[in-house]
Amino acid sequence: MITSTLCFVSLSITSLVLGQLETNKKGRGLPPSPLRRRDTPSAGYFNPASNGGSLLTQVSGTSPPAGEPINVIVSGNSDKAVLNDTEVNGGLRNFFLSFGFSAECLGQHSGAPQEANLGDGDGFQNETAVIRLDYGNPALGSCEETVEGGNHFRYWVQNGPSADSGAVFMATSYEQPIAQGHNIVPNGYDFGRYVAILQYATFQGNTSFDGFTYQTSVQYVSGLLPVGSSGVNHGIDLDGLVAVMQVSIVGQPGGQPKKTGLCVQYFFSHYSY
Ligand SMILES: *[C@@H]1O[C@H](CO)[C@@H](O)[C@H](O)[C@H]1NC(C)=O
Ligand SMILES: *[C@@H]1O[C@H](CO)[C@@H](O)[C@H](O)[C@H]1NC(C)=O
Ligand SMILES: *[C@@H]1O[C@H](CO)[C@@H](O)[C@H](O)[C@H]1NC(C)=O
Repeated sequence: MITSTLCFVSLSITSLVLGQLETNKKGRGLPPSPLRRRDTPSAGYFNPASNGGSLLTQVSGTSPPAGEPINVIVSGNSDKAVLNDTEVNGGLRNFFLSFGFSAECLGQHSGAPQEANLGDGDGFQNETAVIRLDYGNPALGSCEETVEGGNHFRYWVQNGPSADSGAVFMATSYEQPIAQGHNIVPNGYDFGRYVAILQYATFQGNTSFDGFTYQTSVQYVSGLLPVGSSGVNHGIDLDGLVAVMQVSIVGQPGGQPKKTGLCVQYFFSHYSY
């Protein structure tokens, strides 16, 4: 909350820019699949539990089986460009960079991948990638996170044949430094969700990277995740809330001044767990 005033970007966006965005959105949009049409419900995602899936991942080697909570969803009704898993053209990886997270340190990844079943007909799938806080340095900062601990997330896309919403499902958590074995801190799942979306604490906020500005509004949804610790890795308690983010591109190179994801970085430079 202390940072929220920093997060307001005064943008005097013109109707001209909005007009350009409309055109570009169409130009960049996902082409219709030759086999099926993307089918995104108004909620922006399908509840995995309605089709045999779960918002708890499966962590390998846990007995009895336990998982991490998927506690943030990027709605499938977000701009199409944001749902494309790429760093260019304002894609998903650029959106992650806009709030201070980049792909893992030099592509290294410790630990077995986690699997999740999003109820989309594809069954259990390995995470697409692990994304870590970059400490303000997109090239090397996630290495610092790997050593020092901190916030990170894994994600999966709900795009199987029976529930093709295009939504991005993120399991965020906050872990201890490598010296302490990278365990999740107490309350680390709810806390991870909280810091991942801190700059949207007013439920709407803007972040930018590489000339693209994203406007995100957040809605907290209950009933998708369990409340409590049953089936949760390390027996950590959950408040049961999932943050659903609706993301639109409101500025792009040439149309808007560049602004980086100040808010999260400010928070981390003034906070230690
Ligand atoms: C996603 O972005 C890539 C560029 O990295 C582009 O080649 C591809 O066509 C885009 N995919 C869709 C479905 O728009
Ligand atoms: C996930 O990755 C692991 C290790 O690479 C592999 O053994 C496993 O079969 C994969 N799971 C799925 C569902 O592809
Ligand atoms: C984000 O940008 C949009 C478009 O310029 C603007 O209308 C909105 O007020 C901004 N939101 C915040 C929280 O600054």
